[in-house]
Amino acid sequence: MGKKIRDSWGSRLGIIMAVAGSAVGLGNFLRFPVQAAKNGGGAFMLPYFIALLLVGIPLMWIEWSIGRYGGGLGHSTAPGVFQSLWRKNRFIKYFGVIGIFGPLVIMVYYTYIESWTLAYSFFSLTHKYAGITDHVSMQAFLKGFQGLERNQFFSSISTAYVFFLITFVINITVLNYGIRGGIERFCKFAIPTLFIFGIILAVRVLTLGAPVSGQPSWNVVNGLGYLWNPDFSQLKSAKVWLAATGQIFFTLSVGMGVILTYASYLKKGDDVALSGLTAVSMNETAEVILGASIIIPAAFMFFGPVVIGNIAESGAFNLGFVTMPLILNKLPMSEIMGFLWFGLLFLAGVTSSVSMAQPAIAFLEDEFDITRRQSVMILGTTMFILCNAAIFFLGKGVVDELDFWGGTFCLVLFATIEVILFGWIFNINKAWEEVHHGADMNIPGIYKYIIKYVTPVFLLTVLGAWFFQEWLPIIRMDNVPAGNRAYILGTRVVLWLIFLVLVVMVKLAWRKRRSEPYTEKVSDRRDI
Ligand code: ALA
Repeated sequence: MGKKIRDSWGSRLGIIMAVAGSAVGLGNFLRFPVQAAKNGGGAFMLPYFIALLLVGIPLMWIEWSIGRYGGGLGHSTAPGVFQSLWRKNRFIKYFGVIGIFGPLVIMVYYTYIESWTLAYSFFSLTHKYAGITDHVSMQAFLKGFQGLERNQFFSSISTAYVFFLITFVINITVLNYGIRGGIERFCKFAIPTLFIFGIILAVRVLTLGAPVSGQPSWNVVNGLGYLWNPDFSQLKSAKVWLAATGQIFFTLSVGMGVILTYASYLKKGDDVALSGLTAVSMNETAEVILGASIIIPAAFMFFGPVVIGNIAESGAFNLGFVTMPLILNKLPMSEIMGFLWFGLLFLAGVTSSVSMAQPAIAFLEDEFDITRRQSVMILGTTMFILCNAAIFFLGKGVVDELDFWGGTFCLVLFATIEVILFGWIFNINKAWEEVHHGADMNIPGIYKYIIKYVTPVFLLTVLGAWFFQEWLPIIRMDNVPAGNRAYILGTRVVLWLIFLVLVVMVKLAWRKRRSEPYTEKVSDRRDI
């Protein structure tokens, strides 16, 4: 097989922006406040930071390192990367399928939610929800928009569908331009822009001044305290630990397989240690500085601490799409503030969703030798069909089901395999050398032990706890309303089929390359 020129990053700043773009997403501004509010505010933050140090940061370094390593052998996705880490094992490449399957499953529902943010930024500018002043009506506006009910605001799902189509085309266009010309260029514009939008919104919320609700204790200081006053009483709660760990995975985009793919476009001597840490820092700034300074303190000041928890419990999107518009409606220049809020979410969303498509595109390009344009076409057509299921069966629990398998279960499973492969099979001494190859910083030595022992034990414990507490009820669909069971079962069947198709594709790809010496597919990436 002839050598083929692989796509590459244009600059170091470019890949950092792209990884930060993948990480900074709806998870930072919508999921984080909901998780924090559902898990008692201050009680959530300590497990969150412990999971960041013991799982999030190590996994970020691991994914950057194994991605660069696999990329050097012509592999941009987990099946090939896993195989190159454990060459003697014929089956390990099939475990890598999770690193293509998981992000695709997330992308199915993520792109649809992303399109709501585009729609709402348009609604803000056009005053479509400007006259709504109470939770019940704003909730009806959201349900009407989502096609879950017909009401005075929307008579069908068509508005939502049009915004979905626009969002989908934007994603496919960015992907079509490739790593350097599409993803890198878009992230270099989107990340600084969304930080500026976030800073303006955070400053606006933090300078609201006198208690806006008339309740003296519902002020900005107590609003921040809701999150930042530590509450040690919940440290024994497994639920809080699971929620915090899950949030770290989702927000950093680790355990998905996407960072590994981005890092595969690096060259051998490029730094991964400092770059990985920089991407983590950017994500955490967006999450715990900006994300935490917008919804939570604003909702605290307007509605008080008890209501925040209730709103978060009442639905994953209620804080972002019901409470925030109500709050923004009460501020001067509300249409601009609404535009900034939903515009920020949209940019954060697109930079993440394109990263979720990239493993599948890279897999087709690398292993089947087809062009990027053809890969994007195949991916685009498949995703379009699947997204329609999320759109039309939203009310049947399909999105929650996809989020559980793609956005929670696969991440922890994939990360567990990754860390064991890197620290134990590849060998921690070789792994340590690999992370430090070309590094612009020395990683503290304690991380050698964390990667080898602590992170795997942490992840195996989380997986084990899940298995014992939740496995049977999930399989039996105990918590699924009877009317939704057929839809959930259908979703599971489709997910299995997609997984099996990917397994067969891996098998075919390896059969094709069996005649070739393993290292022949040396990449031809340009220096950056
Ligand atoms: N990391 C992405 C987010 O936080 C998926 O939304």
